[in-house]
Amino acid sequence: MSNSLWEKLGFRENPYNTKPLNVIKSDVDLLMGRETEQIDFLTAIEADEQGIFVLSGVPGVGKTSFFNVQQYLLESQEAPFGPKVLAARKLCPIQQSDEPKNIAIRSIQSFCKSIEEYCNLTKNTIPAETQKVQNWLYQNKPASFNFGITLFGHGGNIAREVHLPSINETTYETLVELLTVIAYEVKTNLGFVSSFIVLDNMENLHEEDLTECLTTFRDTLFTIPNVWWVLIGQSGLPSLIQSTNPKVFQRLSTSIELNPISVEDLIKAVDIRVQRFHIGQQGSSPISTEIYLKLFDSSNGEIRFVFNYCHDICINLVQTVRKIQSAQKKNLVEQDFERLMGTYLVNNQINDNFSNTCLNNIISVEFNGLYLTRKEKMVLKRIGELKKVKPNHYTEFKDFGIKTLQEFVSKYLVKLHQQYLLQKRQEGKILTYELRGISVFANEYGLLDES
Ligand SMILES: Nc1ncnc2c1ncn2[C@@H]1O[C@H](COP(=O)(O)OP(=O)(O)OP(=O)(O)O)[C@@H](O)[C@H]1O
Ligand SMILES: [Mg+2]
Repeated sequence: MSNSLWEKLGFRENPYNTKPLNVIKSDVDLLMGRETEQIDFLTAIEADEQGIFVLSGVPGVGKTSFFNVQQYLLESQEAPFGPKVLAARKLCPIQQSDEPKNIAIRSIQSFCKSIEEYCNLTKNTIPAETQKVQNWLYQNKPASFNFGITLFGHGGNIAREVHLPSINETTYETLVELLTVIAYEVKTNLGFVSSFIVLDNMENLHEEDLTECLTTFRDTLFTIPNVWWVLIGQSGLPSLIQSTNPKVFQRLSTSIELNPISVEDLIKAVDIRVQRFHIGQQGSSPISTEIYLKLFDSSNGEIRFVFNYCHDICINLVQTVRKIQSAQKKNLVEQDFERLMGTYLVNNQINDNFSNTCLNNIISVEFNGLYLTRKEKMVLKRIGELKKVKPNHYTEFKDFGIKTLQEFVSKYLVKLHQQYLLQKRQEGKILTYELRGISVFANEYGLLDES
């Protein structure tokens, strides 16, 4: 008797899980490709005990997964080379209106959480000052800290007691000192060379706010000994930093732009998940290679997009079968269900006809739900023809029948990007936009044509 939906399809777990790979051993083998990126990354981290590293790429290309696997390998010392670095098990998400102080507070919270998780996993005691900071964060009431150790170095027997009010009343400078103390304890008490602290989704900051934060962090957060700051963001983040904040850019060790993995690696990625999660003798991907490669191709290499729709097709199949079963007024007996499922499966694989029809339905519902205007659809269609547009003075935006460049950018490009219909890439100060997977399919299904 199978219970979950995936068991009905012959799996213990969803093989198309879109969650990022985690900082755990069992996820290491699920990461495909990325060999050269790994060497670049480990070499950069090996070169210093502290620094700033930028990891960029389009949404869903695998940034978090790549980084988490490298973190696992470094922390456990299973990496081919590189220092022992404490993993950031909790990333610090950046939000739109963040100011430097919010980010500093959140960095402390994430850092403490990561230390706590590591200590729990390895049955270590949380270092004393770190524990105090954590209690202070939770209780949000005044507390005293010993800043002596770091300021006088080498175990310092000259204590410097500092009394702090609640977190919101604490100054930015003091927050930086707290982080310094915590990083020092990770090194001396837990035996790490450095710690990772990750600022995720840097693209959420507007350009001016990004500049302000980077300027503030440059000589404060970013210079804390034994901390590696990893900035994760959208495609082209390094060149954006270069053009807005050359002084921070100079401090960057290498940065990596993750490109899509190869088709061969995607096939391997699906195969290994199928092998790991299927039940019984022989496993195969419920969605055929042809279908998922078509998704991959249209999405510009967004693995999340591929897995997402593979998952949806599977759910849809089970829903369809259940509806047929109920329409036939049959009892919901398992044999009927399995027999009906069998009519859609060839060698345990959903037939392509069903998958294609299903994709068409799912994408039509999703796309039509956005209620785009005729003009917006026309803009998407034209971008599809041009492949890529740059909203600068040379763009023939008039070609789109739009009067001003500003209107073209704000009413169309920005809006459609926010609706996940366009992909944005940064090349220095210049942005380019192209269709995202869903728009490519919408175009193919004729949803962009006037009705
Ligand atoms: N190299 C890889 N091999 C196999 N699977 C991968 C690889 N990279 C990513 N994935 C899978 O792709 C999906 C998306 O990955 P991930 O969340 O890491 O992308 P991301 O770039 O961090 O996305 P976002 O821009 O939204 O933060 C996840 O299901 C993940 O398991
Ligand atoms: Mg991510």
